[in-house]
Amino acid sequence: MHLVKAHLVLAFCHLGLTFPNNKATDPFEELLSNPSSTGLNLLDISSADLEAQLQTLKASSSLHGFSKCQVACALLPLFAMTVSNSNSSGYEPLPYWSIQQAEVKPGCRVDVSSAKDISNTVLISRLTQCPFAVKSGGHAAFAGASSIQDGMLINLAKLNMVSLSSDRTVTQVGPGNTWHDVYRQLDPLGVSVVGGREAGVGVGGLLLGGGISYFSGRFGWGCDNVVNYEVVLASGAIVNASPTSHADLYWALRGGSGTNFGIVSRFDLATFEQGLLWGGSKYYNADQNNKLVDAYTKFLTDAPTDNFAHLYVSYGYAAQLGGFIGVAGPTYGKAIGNATIFETLNKIPVLGDETGFASMGDLALALNQTTLARFKTVTFKNDPALFKGIVKIFTEEASTVLTVPGLAPFFAFQPISDNIVEHMQKNGGNALGLSTADGPLTIMNLNWGWTNEVYDALVLETVDRFVSRSVALAESKGLNHSFIYMNYAKLEQDVFGGYGAKNVARLKRIQHKFDPKGVFKSLQPGYFKLK
Ligand SMILES: Cc1cc2nc3c(=O)[nH]c(=O)nc-3n(C[C@H](O)[C@H](O)[C@H](O)COP(=O)(O)OP(=O)(O)OC[C@H]3O[C@@H](n4cnc5c(N)ncnc54)[C@H](O)[C@@H]3O)c2cc1C
Ligand SMILES: *[C@@H]1O[C@H](CO)[C@@H](O)[C@H](O)[C@H]1NC(C)=O
Ligand SMILES: *[C@@H]1O[C@H](CO)[C@@H](O)[C@H](O)[C@H]1NC(C)=O
Ligand SMILES: *[C@@H]1O[C@H](CO)[C@@H](O)[C@H](O)[C@H]1NC(C)=O
Ligand SMILES: *[C@@H]1O[C@H](CO)[C@@H](O)[C@H](O)[C@H]1NC(C)=O
Repeated sequence: MHLVKAHLVLAFCHLGLTFPNNKATDPFEELLSNPSSTGLNLLDISSADLEAQLQTLKASSSLHGFSKCQVACALLPLFAMTVSNSNSSGYEPLPYWSIQQAEVKPGCRVDVSSAKDISNTVLISRLTQCPFAVKSGGHAAFAGASSIQDGMLINLAKLNMVSLSSDRTVTQVGPGNTWHDVYRQLDPLGVSVVGGREAGVGVGGLLLGGGISYFSGRFGWGCDNVVNYEVVLASGAIVNASPTSHADLYWALRGGSGTNFGIVSRFDLATFEQGLLWGGSKYYNADQNNKLVDAYTKFLTDAPTDNFAHLYVSYGYAAQLGGFIGVAGPTYGKAIGNATIFETLNKIPVLGDETGFASMGDLALALNQTTLARFKTVTFKNDPALFKGIVKIFTEEASTVLTVPGLAPFFAFQPISDNIVEHMQKNGGNALGLSTADGPLTIMNLNWGWTNEVYDALVLETVDRFVSRSVALAESKGLNHSFIYMNYAKLEQDVFGGYGAKNVARLKRIQHKFDPKGVFKSLQPGYFKLK
């Protein structure tokens, strides 16, 4: 690494670039301290100088034998950032939830520790045209979402602040935290925030795509409870987005994904007093499948009568539990067991029952898992006959591939009850395009894992057939809905199409305003993009 750097410094001198040593005059420093009135286009106002350097670098895709990413990776340490080259022997790959992401190898990884570091990295990417990816918890399921082959991997892990305001109403949360990091610090203080349900999931991806939480009946999704985003824009400017500052960007970040607008360096989350909850998983034999659907669909209708309750149900195959099973995850946001709203559910005989009183941290740990799985999702209106039909289709399709090694086929029904949708409208609403006019909705999300990629084609075909048969059944009953939840979607799915034409047009206008040159589109290739 050091040798490479020395060579590069020499190479740069030849080109008239001046980075004489680590304390070099920082061309970015000036840019950042002189934001234009709009705060945009810092690189452009900067200087003929930088623009000329950009042109030179662009013109030679390989600089004295170095690729543009080798140049970028060598530039980063000059701005006092911690960089590790994936080619060096001591390189420690970052943990990911899926094999698909873990297999992708960056050129280098930069462990940013401030918004300014992120800003410098984005500007270096623009200067060198080396692409990048941003990783928070690394739970997105497909390759390139928060990983990048040969490019710069921006690792947010060091941005791990969790800081409660003195009036206990707002918690500043760094995007490098997992939800367990957050809850384990807030639980002892007797407060909580609207966040994920599983320990290892990252704050960043979950909040930028939506954020289904146990607290959603009371407050909406995670994105509806961010009161301010600190964001690094394509220009390198660091701005705040809230209902009173860049309100358009604030709206867009509520479900529009980070990879279209900016990199969030801090989330300020609405905070509330919270003691122990009641919750946990219950397991059922497959002969209770239909009763479980009945309990779930009744819950979805009843949910607005009790904002403290949450319920999802899941179906899958687990050889160790005797085959096909059903799972329910009832949760109550107070220390009250078996609340009335769960009466129907409680009448169903269980195989096992792990419910009890627990903190958010405990509940999140109870669900912590590393299935090496893939996602896909669709959304339906509420109907017990439809859901019973879907469980039957699932059983039929999964049965055809049970011999695939390590197969763990699961899917869940998750509630978007009317009370949740109502809470989504606060502070100007979010970008998701959901309305109570459609009645309560159910997200069906698939989570299928298997161990050997030799079986990819077979299993993926089965997954696709299961989904298309389910959608066809829903369409025949007029119960299909176009919403596709980003956080559970497969890359090929048209997530933004489901937000509605009006919201897509608004998102694009905002994208154009904050990233007029399409920096994130061209230099951050992964994840769901506005076309
Ligand atoms: C086991 C498991 C449990 C889950 N539970 C829930 C749940 O309870 N509720 C729910 O709604 N969803 C849940 N999900 C889905 C989850 O929300 C998504 O997988 C989400 O993308 C994970 O976020 P992450 O930060 O871990 O992922 P990452 O892969 O790190 O990030 C996902 C995308 O967001 C981008 N991104 C991340 N941080 C930032 C940032 N600060 N600025 C800009 N862009 C950023 C990344 O670049 C990437 O493109 C779960 C997923 C798994 C695997
Ligand atoms: C890492 O090594 C490979 C193979 O030698 C090479 O192609 C690649 O450019 C190197 N990457 C960096 C960032 O040095
Ligand atoms: C809830 O009901 C189940 C039986 O359905 C019982 O085993 C359990 O103890 C009850 N929990 C509480 C906290 O009342
Ligand atoms: C969650 O599980 C993963 C995989 O087993 C593990 O690496 C991680 O440390 C766990 N998280 C917590 C908070 O225990
Ligand atoms: C049904 O949903 C799918 C996405 O899940 C969508 O592609 C299709 O257009 C929808 N059909 C209708 C009638 O909304």
